Amino acid sequence: MGIFHLYSRALDLLGSDQRLGWTLAFANVALACALFAEPILFGRVIDALSDAPSTAESVTWSAVWPLLLLWIGFGLFTITCSTAVALFSDRLAHRRRHAVLTSYVEHVLHLPLAQHSKTHSGRLMKIMLQGTDALWWLWLSFFRDHMAAIVSLIILVPVALYINWRLACVLIVLCLVFGFLTHFILRKTQVLQQQIEGHHSDLAELTADTLSNIALVQSFARIQIEMQSLQQVSQRVLGAQFPVLSWWALVTVLTRSATTISILCIIVLGVWLYTQSLITIGEIVTFVAFAGIIIARLDQVVAFANKLAGDAPRLREFFEVLDMAPDIKDRPDAIDPGRCVGLVEFHGVCFSYHAPHRAVDDLSFAIQPGQTIALVGASGAGKSTALSLLYRAFDPQSGRITIDGIDIRQFQLTALRRNIGVVFQEPLLFNRSIADNLRIGAPEASDAALREACIRAQALEFIEQQPDGFDTIIGERGRTLSGGERQRLSIARVLLKDAPILILDEATSALDTPTETSLLNALAAVTQTRSTLVIAHRLSTIRQADHILVMDAGKVIELGSFDGLYQQGGRFTAIMQQQYGFAQPLK
Ligand SMILES: Nc1ncnc2c1ncn2[C@@H]1O[C@H](COP(=O)(O)OP(=O)(O)OP(=O)(O)O)[C@@H](O)[C@H]1O
Ligand SMILES: [Mg+2]
Repeated sequence: MGIFHLYSRALDLLGSDQRLGWTLAFANVALACALFAEPILFGRVIDALSDAPSTAESVTWSAVWPLLLLWIGFGLFTITCSTAVALFSDRLAHRRRHAVLTSYVEHVLHLPLAQHSKTHSGRLMKIMLQGTDALWWLWLSFFRDHMAAIVSLIILVPVALYINWRLACVLIVLCLVFGFLTHFILRKTQVLQQQIEGHHSDLAELTADTLSNIALVQSFARIQIEMQSLQQVSQRVLGAQFPVLSWWALVTVLTRSATTISILCIIVLGVWLYTQSLITIGEIVTFVAFAGIIIARLDQVVAFANKLAGDAPRLREFFEVLDMAPDIKDRPDAIDPGRCVGLVEFHGVCFSYHAPHRAVDDLSFAIQPGQTIALVGASGAGKSTALSLLYRAFDPQSGRITIDGIDIRQFQLTALRRNIGVVFQEPLLFNRSIADNLRIGAPEASDAALREACIRAQALEFIEQQPDGFDTIIGERGRTLSGGERQRLSIARVLLKDAPILILDEATSALDTPTETSLLNALAAVTQTRSTLVIAHRLSTIRQADHILVMDAGKVIELGSFDGLYQQGGRFTAIMQQQYGFAQPLK
């Protein structure tokens, strides 16, 4: 994405504020034009003074007064306009930064898990913060300075030609030198800037990863090693940054030299033209003032190019994230069938994270409403993946899944997910209060309902022992709770959600046996009226399941009731033996 494309995309993001943005930009152009009046008036005053006879005071004043009044008028206009523009453009830029930041977060939250697995959250966060900062600066500077700077250059050069074309040629050469140098350096540093930004993103990712695994870092005494990795990335940033800084330093030296030489040339040429009676002193004064304005504008444009070159990779990264089209999204004709009855069917479902290895291979089964089906099998057999296809964390490459006879891809995503309650294998909790965590699926749930769900999930006792009870903040990912407490909270929150289809992925694996038994008894009443899919390693917990699927390498290798499978003497029996040491059942 080239710099001009980036620039126009950034302006597009102004959305409903675009009209205000352009009004401000044109007000700035008017301001810039008003500024040209000063050198012209100055030159006129000097000419009026040099033309007037020195003794005739009244004649002199009558020539100068109108010019001074005009000057005051322009001054007042400039001050009022600049204040208004500064005020509105600041507000506009801040407002849009927050709007864009919000829509970025919303967009990222809509991206499917497959896309999130590829990009670290620390990197996404860095891209968001730096991208919105870059946009904020771009808008602010565009409306406050840059558009006016560019337009004034376009206007000033012909005006300078009109005033004195010979002197104007010097300014034109100066503009060309500035333009060439900036273009040259932009080309030279573009790749390096992109590398710098990549390293900055690596740095953000590494830091976020280290911080989110702080317990691991400390217990494995890795602080030193992690710091070394951080320093290595920092070295890479600096290694790419220093040549860029040198190139821009060279531009500064060259542009300063070109400016000084140009001013000297204008003065020398001006004196020569005066000796040839081709110019007045007032015109020389006007021209030098003009040259000053043009040079200031040129400096502004170069500084802008420098900043934009630094920000371009940030904007590019930002737009790349915004351009990620979620491959799991609502179809245009997606429906919301309301609360489902709960007939779940998998028809020849295949799914690979990385072809050709299939995580789920030709999976077919059905659950009648109110039934419980259990998935067992070795670690990595594809159990969690299979069930994650039901709530469309991923879409299968072939086969289809239906609920109540409707393909789940025809559901609106929110409607589908409203119908499915998931207890994830890893209890995922927010750094919020226990009550807030519980109400995630049921924001309107009453306090009584909260307590009721916690009683069923065997969670009330430990919650009441927390310093602030239900209002206790439980830390990042529920760090202040034990593994079993986290699991019970995630069970309570799914009970509160009250969905007709339940997925319990190793939901009780961290519990002690008495707590697990009480919890399973309490859950039995809930699962009787729901279609329930249970994943369990401990086979004692799935005794009551209507059907059990034994999975291996993504495939179902055995299917039946608990007793039926036990009698079969296959993989299920082998697992039973490993877990409980039962004798080989009769075939
Ligand atoms: N996000 C992912 N990206 C790539 N591969 C993945 C991803 N998640 C899981 N896998 C791979 O897919 C396979 C099935 O994983 P899955 O989590 O479904 O196993 P599982 O049966 O639930 O195992 P466990 O009993 O250990 O939870 C494994 O080989 C795993 O490495
Ligand atoms: Mg799993």
